[in-house]
Amino acid sequence: MAQTRNRRIVLGITGGIAAYKAAELVRLLIKDGSEVQVVMTQAACGFITPATLQALSGKPVFTDLWDSRVTDGMAHIALSRGADAIVIAPASANFMAKLANGLADDLLSTLCLARECPLMVAPAMNRQMWENKATQRNVAQLARDGVAILGPASGDQACGEVGLGRMLEAQQIFDEVQSQLAPKLLAGKNVLITAGPTFEALDPVRGITNRSSGKMGYAIARAALDAGAKVTLVSGPVHLDAPASARVERIDSAAEMFAAVKKHVKSADIFIGVAAVADYRPERVSAQKIKKKDDDMSLRLVQNPDILAWVAAQPKPPFCVGFAAESQKLNEFADAKRRRKKVQLMVANLAQHAIGADDNEVTLLDDAGLHKLPRAPKTVVARQIVAHVAALGTARRKTRK
Ligand code: C5P
Repeated sequence: MAQTRNRRIVLGITGGIAAYKAAELVRLLIKDGSEVQVVMTQAACGFITPATLQALSGKPVFTDLWDSRVTDGMAHIALSRGADAIVIAPASANFMAKLANGLADDLLSTLCLARECPLMVAPAMNRQMWENKATQRNVAQLARDGVAILGPASGDQACGEVGLGRMLEAQQIFDEVQSQLAPKLLAGKNVLITAGPTFEALDPVRGITNRSSGKMGYAIARAALDAGAKVTLVSGPVHLDAPASARVERIDSAAEMFAAVKKHVKSADIFIGVAAVADYRPERVSAQKIKKKDDDMSLRLVQNPDILAWVAAQPKPPFCVGFAAESQKLNEFADAKRRRKKVQLMVANLAQHAIGADDNEVTLLDDAGLHKLPRAPKTVVARQIVAHVAALGTARRKTRK
């Protein structure tokens, strides 16, 4: 399967109080496996030190067009070549004015002019500076020139005023960058995803559930959206924000998840069952809280429907992906599940490694065999799973012709 090389991002920081948020952005990009080259304007150095960004990025920070560390004296060329994107965060009104007019009077503006890669800017300024006709003219020009404008957001400003002009939060900028750079492998596809646990009520206050944070399913939803898909996310109870552009159905029980899946499956090209669906539910749900007695009690459980197996058994099923969390004999149990449920791809992970964690280590099992992915953040694993699904889907369409 295709391995992706590390992304190279040039992060430009210009002078504004929001420069402190750039430190968190560097951390998120590095955690995600990107290489980050920080370039700062002189004004930015008044707000945050190059030393902080050097420590976080693990690379020397550049601020000067005439930096002697670049031996041929062409730092603007050396730094912009090989970059997958230049991201300016924060982008001041002054810097956007320079970009809009093609000015190149310092290292950062010169390397933006010399770039061969996408440019994204995250504006940050006082609301009146943002609303000023000159700034709006510059923003419109940048958009016409193909520059992606990330934000700004509205809210409290460092100057004490409230309005539009705040820089997006680091996580939002990170998500936007991922989305802009992701290859559109699932363009035009409808993807239906289940995520999180289910909750099988016993009475109004108690129930049976399982330990699933929903992080893997939500990361796959995000990766599928970034790959250009339309995503419907059927989610059990989790403490996560769903991606804004996904259609989200929140459910509690397996029966509700099944009903939601039945509703959306007809239009799905791809079904990815990431949810940890409870296999059993209490036979009876008490309308009142069950009172404690002086004796032991037993519960009779009845089986829940297997949603994934049902989807895969439809006359014209979507491309089906299952997840198998096992505590032992991982590949053997997961492959048996793949065959029994008749799904094209099974993603296997050890339950003790995956539950609640931010990282995951998975093996992909399909007709071609096993593909072990290295341990990585769930966001990275999700992108690799989406790329694998896209590749298998393309291969399936070719063999059907
Ligand atoms: O059989 P097991 O629960 O281990 O299989 C896991 C896979 O099957 C996951 O993809 C899960 O979402 C799906 N599943 C389901 N309905 C169930 C049980 C599991 O869709 N009742």
